[in-house]
Amino acid sequence: MISANIAALLYLVAGILFILALRGLSSPTLARQGNMFGMIGMGIAILTTLAIAAPTDPFAWALIVLGLAIGGGIGAYIARGVPMTAMPQLVAAFHSLVGLAAVFVAAAALYAPVAFGIGEPGHIHAQALVEMSIGTAIGAFTFTGSVIAFAKLDGRMSGKPILLPNRHMIHLAIGAALIVLVIAFAMTANPWLFWLVAILALVLGGLMIIPIGGADMPVVVSMLNSYSGWAAAGIGFTLGNTALIITGALVGSSGAILSYIMCRAMNRSFISVILGGFGGDDAAAAAGEEEDRPVKQGSAEDAAFLMQNASKVIIVPGYGMAVAQAQHSLREMADALKEAGVEVKYAIHPVAGRMPGHMNVLLAEANVPYDEVFELEDINSEFREADVAFVIGANDVTNPSAKTDKTSPIYGMPVLNVEDAGTVLFLKRGMSAGYAGVQNELFFRDNTMMLFGDAKKMTEAIVKTLEH
Ligand code: TAP
Repeated sequence: MISANIAALLYLVAGILFILALRGLSSPTLARQGNMFGMIGMGIAILTTLAIAAPTDPFAWALIVLGLAIGGGIGAYIARGVPMTAMPQLVAAFHSLVGLAAVFVAAAALYAPVAFGIGEPGHIHAQALVEMSIGTAIGAFTFTGSVIAFAKLDGRMSGKPILLPNRHMIHLAIGAALIVLVIAFAMTANPWLFWLVAILALVLGGLMIIPIGGADMPVVVSMLNSYSGWAAAGIGFTLGNTALIITGALVGSSGAILSYIMCRAMNRSFISVILGGFGGDDAAAAAGEEEDRPVKQGSAEDAAFLMQNASKVIIVPGYGMAVAQAQHSLREMADALKEAGVEVKYAIHPVAGRMPGHMNVLLAEANVPYDEVFELEDINSEFREADVAFVIGANDVTNPSAKTDKTSPIYGMPVLNVEDAGTVLFLKRGMSAGYAGVQNELFFRDNTMMLFGDAKKMTEAIVKTLEH
């Protein structure tokens, strides 16, 4: 058992470490250090909580240790094996557990109020009842919402938006019912009302996420992440636990900021994402009609020749590079070009890939120097001076219809002006559309050469040619 003052101090230290962790994660050079701060902070928070509770019953200790070992073991096992491309669904799956935990903690507080210091059975403080029911509603919503997001991102459920009739009215009605139930529960402390809140919120979470298409799922995951943070902060107030309040508020606000950044980068309003109906998994079919139009096709040798004789090459990586895990061979290609005296830069679109920072992480993993990697706004005007734009597994982020076609689902999204380069090399397996399901006019332009093949195999072939 430790004194309340020491506990508050340790929680404060943990909170500061969490803030330093977020700060570190905002830059590739400090990301590892940031992660370390986060882990140390979490370690301090867990140990402090255990020291406060200090159960005397050895059985309670055994349960805690077993819980930590099983949960930590499963988490570490899954996280180690998951490919980078499956990270968004992993995050969604883990978030569902955060939501569920919020519901369980609130239920435990309801049935054992003395242990939680929030009153006596039948006489729980009204403030705790409000916090508990709101935390439960958000937690339950986050649980089903995250499960649906996981299923859509993992291809276990169609990524197509499923637009149920009158859905907005139904959502509004359930939302209104939830508010009434929370008030009724705060006034009566009736456990039935608590469970009704949980069930309605579970239903609402599913119903609200089902109509949202696969393309918007990363935004949804980050939004649910934010909700789970607020749920945790709510429960933190109930428990009087400062660490939980700080952590919940950090997760809640950073998730909200991330959702906002993603929406802005895709030029979509947050409300339009939540209302659903954008993107799907029949994207390729949508572009299928155009496949007959002739395109200029090239080989690895053609690509190597063009790039070797260029003075400046800008590489544009996208989702296909991540799928093929081509980042290492791409770096080798860039090294070979640099050796031949070619200036090489990388242009990163803010929503290239399937999660924020996806490309930066992969390039960092392949030891691409940070000073060669540029954000869209910093490099877009340079395509004019480039002899070659090497687009590897990217599509939507280069699509000029975002600038010109008001009917395009990506209209308004800022895109990389690859067409301004002397030659555009598109490395992809076929003529399939990108995630938004729209055809890319650039494939048919005179200054475009298509390199059909897997991103990794084709890049390796280019490296081989360059080295001979
Ligand atoms: P996409 O537009 O999805 O295009 C990726 C291309 O990679 C596909 O056209 C595909 O064509 C190709 N590809 C797939 N596997 C490949 C492989 N093994 N080898 C070579 N090529 C391969 O990707 P993007 O340009 O990165 O754009 C990202 C999209 O995701 C945007 O629409 C964005 O709005 C959306 N999105 C992103 C985020 C974040 S945060 N990054 C969040 C939400 C939505 P083939 O099948 O012909 O090979």
